[in-house]
Amino acid sequence: MLTLTSFADLRAARRSLTGSLGLVPTMGYLHRGHLSLVERARAENAHVAVSIFVNPTQFGPNEDLSRYPRDLTHDLELLAGYHVDLVWAPTPEELYPAGFQTWVSVEQVSAPLEGKQRPGHFRGVATVVAKLFNAFTPDRAYFGQKDAQQVVVIRRLARDLNFPLEIVTCPIVREPDGLALSSRNVYLNAEERQAATVLSRALRAAEAAFAAGERDADVLRAMVGSALAQEPLAREEYVSAADPETLAELETVGPGGALLSLAVRVGKTRLIDNVVLGAP
Ligand code: PAF
Repeated sequence: MLTLTSFADLRAARRSLTGSLGLVPTMGYLHRGHLSLVERARAENAHVAVSIFVNPTQFGPNEDLSRYPRDLTHDLELLAGYHVDLVWAPTPEELYPAGFQTWVSVEQVSAPLEGKQRPGHFRGVATVVAKLFNAFTPDRAYFGQKDAQQVVVIRRLARDLNFPLEIVTCPIVREPDGLALSSRNVYLNAEERQAATVLSRALRAAEAAFAAGERDADVLRAMVGSALAQEPLAREEYVSAADPETLAELETVGPGGALLSLAVRVGKTRLIDNVVLGAP
């Protein structure tokens, strides 16, 4: 497994790879969710590359950039067991040299939900992902459904800028009690960790109602909201039932299904989760 930091070394290593390349972009502090992406990439490509970069431009001024968990040594140990060909862990200066002023902005689908709560977040994500696609020229890139809006933004980006690659979305990996895996779960104390199970419980309640025939989006959103309200440590930021492609809020869940998503603060930790209803 080659571990590189500079663009120049990455380009040289990329040129030496023949056959398809699957890229798994990450911010490190890898967990089973990331590893499921690596496994899928391994199964579908001749070569697998992983990027590890805590991208400063996707964090707001009052967000957790400085304390975001990092453990490159452990990440590399984990990846060594997954037959990864190439790991790229650049410095911020490598990706954002002095004078950097070019941004990629995906407009409409970046605006609601996470984009509304975290202004500038998706501009940072889209910019770094475009740079990664340019640097690796992968045949496929793998992202987790946990960041559902991010996937919608990146699919739009890839189409609009004609990146010749396939975006592969992989299912959310959960703890046995339903909590979606996230590097940020490490922030939760024991009491908050227990309280955080309310996210998936709330989504499951609405999913069961949908399975029983409920199609009124207001009713589904309200069900999620009232389940969240039962947990004293949880503070809802938003609950959404939106069109899975445009992310416009729905009145009724039609044949195109719905992305039911939420953001919740548990203590000081911000968590997100989602489920697709009537997945096409
Ligand atoms: O999902 C993430 O870990 C990040 O947003 C990504 C896609 C690696 C871009 O920094």
